Amino acid sequence: MQSLTDMGDIQIRRLREEDFPEVVRVEGAAFGEQAAPEEVAIFRAGFNVDRTLCALEDGALVGTNSVMDMELTVPGDRVIPVAALTWVGVLPSHRRRGIFRRLMERQLEDIRHGGDIVSVLLGSEGGIYGRFGYGSATSVLSFSLERPQAKLAGPFGNDGRIVLIDPAGAASVLPDVYDRYRRRQIGAVSRHPGWWTEYLYDIEHHRERTGKMFHAVHENASGSRDGYVTYRIEQHWSAGLPSGELVVVELIAADPEVYAALWSYCLNTDLVRTISMGRGRVEEPLRWLLTDPRSLQVDGLVDYLWVRLIDLPRALAARDYYSPGDLVLEVTDEVFPANSGRYRLRVEAPGGTALCAPTAADPQLALSVAELGAVYLGGVSFQTLAAAGRVKELSGGALANADLMFATDTPPYCVTMF
Ligand SMILES: CC(C)(COP(=O)(O)OP(=O)(O)OC[C@H]1O[C@@H](n2cnc3c(N)ncnc32)[C@H](O)[C@@H]1OP(=O)(O)O)[C@@H](O)C(=O)NCCC(=O)NCCS
Repeated sequence: MQSLTDMGDIQIRRLREEDFPEVVRVEGAAFGEQAAPEEVAIFRAGFNVDRTLCALEDGALVGTNSVMDMELTVPGDRVIPVAALTWVGVLPSHRRRGIFRRLMERQLEDIRHGGDIVSVLLGSEGGIYGRFGYGSATSVLSFSLERPQAKLAGPFGNDGRIVLIDPAGAASVLPDVYDRYRRRQIGAVSRHPGWWTEYLYDIEHHRERTGKMFHAVHENASGSRDGYVTYRIEQHWSAGLPSGELVVVELIAADPEVYAALWSYCLNTDLVRTISMGRGRVEEPLRWLLTDPRSLQVDGLVDYLWVRLIDLPRALAARDYYSPGDLVLEVTDEVFPANSGRYRLRVEAPGGTALCAPTAADPQLALSVAELGAVYLGGVSFQTLAAAGRVKELSGGALANADLMFATDTPPYCVTMF
């Protein structure tokens, strides 16, 4: 039975299949885009009607949010199901009336009832989602290199080859390569077939000032595909000299040799002067492949994947921990007050799982659920958050102990747009 919640003259309800074209129109207006009619079917491929909420005024759609079922890789190479929030928008004519808040509160309630233990999202702006208990858990680095200065230190051993493939070929190759990679990368999420359909269609307004995507795949000596780089080219000539830009969308590599081979391919592309990447790793190994690390210029550092723990004990027990320890956390959660309270996290073996349960023991650290989301994947330390006044140490040594427990071998990284 469909429930309809009144909010003044605004009603919140679940989406119906026939509403979908309106969702595209409203989201387009929210983001300042106008989808071409043929793109509506493409968007539908990656969309989950069943987990979408909409806000209506006099029967007309004015706001939405939606959830995609995804998997997230957490420390210990463990893969957990997550509710990935997306398609969030309210018409410019209806903002700051609390419509988004109503949609969020209802969606979070639905997520909790549906049994997801963690939710994730990407924020269009950094100041929106902390109030709903999401913490910034991974970041991306945008950087650029000028080809005349950027030289790889090499030579690097590699007996594979690189092949340029078209979108049809990419649809049969990239998903497998990505899927093997994401299961070993903390912070990476799964991509369902509809996601790939939309991504490889390469919608025009996603291209910004550049051209369509190219896909260069790395094949090892035995012919198996173990990496790829997807990029766009912006052509430019200045006084007769080529000065184009190669914009890396993503670079996925099974190992360091493949990684070096793919960057070498990018840096050896003729008619290009600048190589850039908008969603690189915070600790991009490319810097260490260069003869001069300064030839990689950092353009920006931006929060990327936001994590919200929905079921605290189960979420904390779903990842592995670097070192053994015993930690009592005093957590506050304004959206789900029942989550607020003390939790004891006990890890017995290095790299082991945790037992997590409510406790009456004295708390050692106090923090909100958003900060717990931020540290969940090991992307920021408790000590850094404490230095920013976001975590309180109530017992000496607790911050250092917590950091040892939550540490990871590699920093978390997510490159997927959703
Ligand atoms: C972001 C957006 C959905 C907010 O919708 P809205 O209906 O105006 O938001 P609400 O009136 O319900 O605001 C809820 C709360 O969020 C805050 N908020 C809203 N937009 C915000 C923003 N851009 N930055 C920071 N805070 C914001 C409000 O101040 C309010 O705070 P409070 O309730 O704690 O006092 C809307 O502005 C929008 O569609 N923006 C463009 C598309 C977009 O960025 N979508 C998000 C994709 S991740």
